[in-house]
Amino acid sequence: MESNTTILFYGLLASAAVVYLARWYKERRSTNVPAIGPTAPLLSYWGAVRFMLWAQDMLEEGHVKYSGRPFRIRIAHHWHYIVSTRQLVDELRRAREDELSFVAAATETLQIEYTLGKAVVYNMYHLPIVRTTLPRNMGKLYATMHDEICVAFKDSVPANDDWTSAPALDTMMQIVARTSARVIVGLPLCRNSEMLDVIINFTVDVVTTGIFLSVIPGFMRPLAKATVSRVDGMIDRALVLLRPVMDYRRTMAEKHGEDWPGKPNDMLQWLMDAAEDEEREPRALATRFLLICFVSIHTTAVTLTQALYRLAANPEYASPLREEIANVVAEEGWSKAALQKMRKLDSFFRECQRMDGVTCLFMIRKAVKDFTFSDGTTVPAGSYVSTSAAATHGEEAYYDAPHLFDPWRFSRLREEPAQSAKHQMVNTSLEYLAFGLGQHACPGRFFAASELKTMLAHLVMNYDVRTETPGVIPPAMHVSNVVVPNRTAKVLFRKRRE
Ligand code: HEM
Ligand SMILES: *[C@@H]1O[C@H](CO)[C@@H](O)[C@H](O)[C@H]1NC(C)=O
Ligand SMILES: *[C@@H]1O[C@H](CO)[C@@H](O)[C@H](O)[C@H]1NC(C)=O
Ligand SMILES: *[C@@H]1O[C@H](CO)[C@@H](O)[C@H](O)[C@H]1NC(C)=O
Repeated sequence: MESNTTILFYGLLASAAVVYLARWYKERRSTNVPAIGPTAPLLSYWGAVRFMLWAQDMLEEGHVKYSGRPFRIRIAHHWHYIVSTRQLVDELRRAREDELSFVAAATETLQIEYTLGKAVVYNMYHLPIVRTTLPRNMGKLYATMHDEICVAFKDSVPANDDWTSAPALDTMMQIVARTSARVIVGLPLCRNSEMLDVIINFTVDVVTTGIFLSVIPGFMRPLAKATVSRVDGMIDRALVLLRPVMDYRRTMAEKHGEDWPGKPNDMLQWLMDAAEDEEREPRALATRFLLICFVSIHTTAVTLTQALYRLAANPEYASPLREEIANVVAEEGWSKAALQKMRKLDSFFRECQRMDGVTCLFMIRKAVKDFTFSDGTTVPAGSYVSTSAAATHGEEAYYDAPHLFDPWRFSRLREEPAQSAKHQMVNTSLEYLAFGLGQHACPGRFFAASELKTMLAHLVMNYDVRTETPGVIPPAMHVSNVVVPNRTAKVLFRKRRE
């Protein structure tokens, strides 16, 4: 009996090895695209480990070594192709969803089926709300957002006469979570500490669960989801907080009609109004609510923290910003229209996103069928493709001295005739990909830009900041393609002196 089991075990092992080698051999024959890191069976996983820790270095190495020609990198179980030239990046942008798929890439990377649930990709009714309803209401909502920013800074950032330190990322995360939540669900929930905990931790839980599930075999995933994943528990906790709010709003609508007096104008309400059929279920709405938090909070908090580190390491940037902001606010007060005139502030963020950013791979797509670029490079079905920060934001053909942080780079460019719209923070192009490009370019970027600019403007007008070691930005961390600013470092704050 026991020897039968042993034979079966080795039999299975041997057939797995044969399948693996056959796949490797086929892959090897089907591509002439060079790889960074080893390509041999099993050894290629060393490349995957390297990428997990030193993605940026590998991407820069590839860009220099192959001078802009496509190359590939092992990430987890698949090959990831990197294209660089303007021509190929444009083809990547234009590829159809049934060739190079954004949804397939996101679904697999985050294991959406087991984390957020398939509905969020099969019914994307939230997209037009983020893309259109939100920006259209930003003028009206601006005062609300500005109010939350003022209160959040007062509650979270020390304003003493002497320098007082606070952890940069955590503090910025609190401020961003509260401000975003004010626009998403309004008062009082946006200041509820349990709510803030849930919306901040949710992203981390989805990402870690997604990574864990994607490395274990498929048949184990349902069990792993039921036992290790905390995502469902987080949705339950959000639901406990949201249900009374949703019930109240529904009752009011039933009693007084769809446009009941005092009906809130926020993201939750827009979602409730747009949801159809099973998406109207409270749990489905809570999931959609958390999806919005997932895409908006960490991205914005990371960007704000990067800007804070830049400013704190170079306090001399404060003075031109203060002058610009004071002039605009004196004429216009605080408004969405006023932000449009703060060009140095806009340039500062655009440059931070160019140099730092939330990711060092852009437009990540999964090939759902073999896809051949015009230069003959074929991405086999099942592989991934994207372009890199090194190939775009770091490219000398696109930027003068690309490795230099020049906060007023873009405001200077905007002074040239007819160049004003092109170089503003929200504009995407083949050379500027911080918000992606094309069909899936970030629909939340107009909101993110208003929020970020108001936050940094408030900060610079009310505080002096510096890094713990003057002039030195604490080192960031990379997890695969994701860029995380230093999570533990502190920044020193004091009440503004001049
Ligand atoms: C500084 C902050 C932000 C950054 C850097 C950022 C960046 C990005 C990037 C790079 C993409 C993928 C584009 C692609 O692959 O081509 C994306 C997609 C997306 N972002 Fe943002 N984002 C930010 C803030 C926000 C906010 C505040 C919201 C919502 C209010 C939002 C909602 C979305 C959504 C819904 C998508 C998916 C688009 C789709 O399915 O087509 N983002 N974002
Ligand atoms: C959120 O994460 C932090 C840090 O990992 C942890 O201390 C806290 O207990 C978590 N809160 C919830 C509600 O899970
Ligand atoms: C972005 O810049 C391009 C030129 O590169 C311009 O045609 C377009 O209107 C700009 N878009 C916005 C939203 O300013
Ligand atoms: C974060 O910065 C601190 C210094 O402020 C440093 O000791 C630490 O190693 C940095 N963390 C990472 C991950 O580099």
